[in-house]
Amino acid sequence: MYIEIGDRVSRVALIGTGFVGSSYAFALMNQGIVNELIMIDLNEDKAKGDVIDLNHGKAFTNNPTHIRFGTYNDCKNADLVVICAGANQKPGETRLDLVDKNLKIFKEIVEHVMASGFDGIFLVATNPVDILTYATWRYCGLPKERVIGSGTILDTARFRFSLGEYFNIAPSNVHAYIIGEHGDSELPVYSSAYIGSLPIMTFIERYDKYKKEDLDNIFINVRDAAYQIIKSKGATYYGIAMGLARITKAIFSNENSILTVSAHLDGQYGEDHVYIGVPAVLNRNGIREIIELKLNKDEQQLFQNSVNVLKSYLSPYFH
Ligand code: 2OP
Repeated sequence: MYIEIGDRVSRVALIGTGFVGSSYAFALMNQGIVNELIMIDLNEDKAKGDVIDLNHGKAFTNNPTHIRFGTYNDCKNADLVVICAGANQKPGETRLDLVDKNLKIFKEIVEHVMASGFDGIFLVATNPVDILTYATWRYCGLPKERVIGSGTILDTARFRFSLGEYFNIAPSNVHAYIIGEHGDSELPVYSSAYIGSLPIMTFIERYDKYKKEDLDNIFINVRDAAYQIIKSKGATYYGIAMGLARITKAIFSNENSILTVSAHLDGQYGEDHVYIGVPAVLNRNGIREIIELKLNKDEQQLFQNSVNVLKSYLSPYFH
């Protein structure tokens, strides 16, 4: 069951095999999304151990994912390089607090990857993800379409799950996006949120039992979910790993699916020179295009604020 792209196989190089990276590898293995996965980590023993452990599960899957240990040189022939390496939030830290530490790590990683001769697509998951995706784009010199951040894919999934619980509707039938920074300044787009094909606001108007204040609380819980999880168990990884696997599938299956990822704005939403979470069409070439939602006045203002937050973090480092 090789997933052929023309006459090519699908090959992912994963950099960083911590909680997020190894959970992503596990998700890829279970879903059979790619032919080959190369695990790279500064801690070679950890990466090698993961390779052995994952390979022991191979007999339980119906797919031939070939998993092996590698080094930066192996990025040369990769179609997709996924970066999960870097420091993660400690309880009480925001994602943006990690910027200094992780920018330094990223400069080195991206330089190593490019030195291998890599000419594929980057997918960035490390926080602050919008800043690090922009940095990856600047450091690598590849077209913006081929540098993607996980953005608000997880926030959107958390939102759809929570709205699904509230309305007792399957999350797959809840169409609602969280956009903006993957972080404290993100926002829900209620003006284009639907349950089935009915606007979410119609549900609120139609049934007394549903209230706008409840939606506001749902959003607050979604926005702060990572803090809650980090407080409980030290880190978040399964959700984001499944989000990364979803993006990987959209790319290798050439799906033209719409997912909320961190994409480079080039005039969309009246902004440029920033990577931020927006719905975008993904296929084998990376980001085909950004979907420009029709935001209402409040949403526009919140989005603008989120752009400003990100730009204020970018400006000391990039001109
Ligand atoms: C999350 O939202 C911490 O960004 C990570 O789960």
